[in-house]
Amino acid sequence: MNYTQGMLKDGALSGKTILVTGGGTGLGKSMGTYFSELGANLIITSRKMEVLEEAAKEITEKTGNPVLPLTCDVREYDQVEKVIASAKEKFGRVDVLLNNAAGNFISPTERLSNRAFDTVVDIVLRGSYNFTLAMGKDWIEKKQAGNILNIVTTYAWTGSGYVVPSACAKAGVLSMTKSLAVEWAKYGIRSNAIAPGPFPTKGAWDRLLPGNLKEKFDPANKVPVGRVGEHQELANLAAYLVSDFSAYVNGEVITIDGGEWLKGAGEFNQLDQIPEELWDAMEMSRKGGSKLQMMWAYMNGLRKMKFRK
Ligand code: HXC
Ligand code: NAP
Repeated sequence: MNYTQGMLKDGALSGKTILVTGGGTGLGKSMGTYFSELGANLIITSRKMEVLEEAAKEITEKTGNPVLPLTCDVREYDQVEKVIASAKEKFGRVDVLLNNAAGNFISPTERLSNRAFDTVVDIVLRGSYNFTLAMGKDWIEKKQAGNILNIVTTYAWTGSGYVVPSACAKAGVLSMTKSLAVEWAKYGIRSNAIAPGPFPTKGAWDRLLPGNLKEKFDPANKVPVGRVGEHQELANLAAYLVSDFSAYVNGEVITIDGGEWLKGAGEFNQLDQIPEELWDAMEMSRKGGSKLQMMWAYMNGLRKMKFRK
């Protein structure tokens, strides 16, 4: 057993209806596929029907469970309400909302037009609160329990240059997650989030590592465990959080990034660039070795450091 395999027992999500925004591609599709494998009814939404229909067909063929594709621009509240109405018409109810849809690209902030800033904030923050508000009102009115899972990023709390609209918007989603976890718990509605580190998807890689940046920056180099994420390990975490096994988890944001953001945060973490030989030289110097030995050790260490990537 390892992280590339499904974790929950068969049927863990049977009887649940789960709505995934941005569910036709990337991580949304991977999480949705696993929910369906575990027995859930699925609704996937985004702006492109062909993409959704193809994903729905592929998922149903794999799992044998129903998937309803519905187009919706998450920025438009009336479209969001229509999606929820159609989902209920098909499945009777929605139990879980996964706010996964996002827009993002890299740019120096001063180069952004105000429309570009709006676009990202509107998809990420407005889109998430549109679905949360419409779904929450419905659950509360019907006195039905609900479960909200939001996908944020690790820079939701640290901030990050060059993706400032996304950082602002994800910070807002993070705050909504924690606020509603308390306010809506009395209605039986839980609210949690996942903060993923780098997980390769076409959508993210094309926009965050455009052109030959893909060859120049390997995101795995920034991750202490030495690799990027596998979709199944994110799907495992998401499936746990949308299942009843996590009934006592509320208001939590779980980071799944191989230690990436902490590596950037720790004052001396970059000392992993220092080769063993240089540590040897420093130790020798501390313990009072001969000058010649020390010089040799330092030079050897520095030479190794030079040739390190
Ligand atoms: C600067 C840009 C731009 C870019 C668009 N704009 N791309 N500005 N750099 N690369 C500007 C446009 O010029 C325009 O402003 C405004 O933004 C709106 O652009 P449209 O193309 O009209 O918007 P729209 O068709 O709604 O498309 C939204 C999008 C697009 C965000 C621009 O990339 C998209 O559809 N993305 C969806 C999928 C996605 O982004 N996935 C990645 C998620 S990854 P003007 O002023 O000219 O009108 C993610 C990972 C985080 O979030 C963490 C990783 C570790
Ligand atoms: P992706 O495949 O591009 O997913 C984004 C989805 O959002 C697409 O299906 C897109 O579909 C949909 N979408 C965008 N704008 C929309 C709108 N206005 N209305 C409705 N749907 C819209 O990228 P991904 O990497 O899987 O990202 C999924 C989530 O993970 C995002 O929340 C992202 O911020 C988060 N995340 C990803 C990474 C990573 O390394 N991949 C890391 C941290 C966080 P359409 O364009 O067809 O509408």
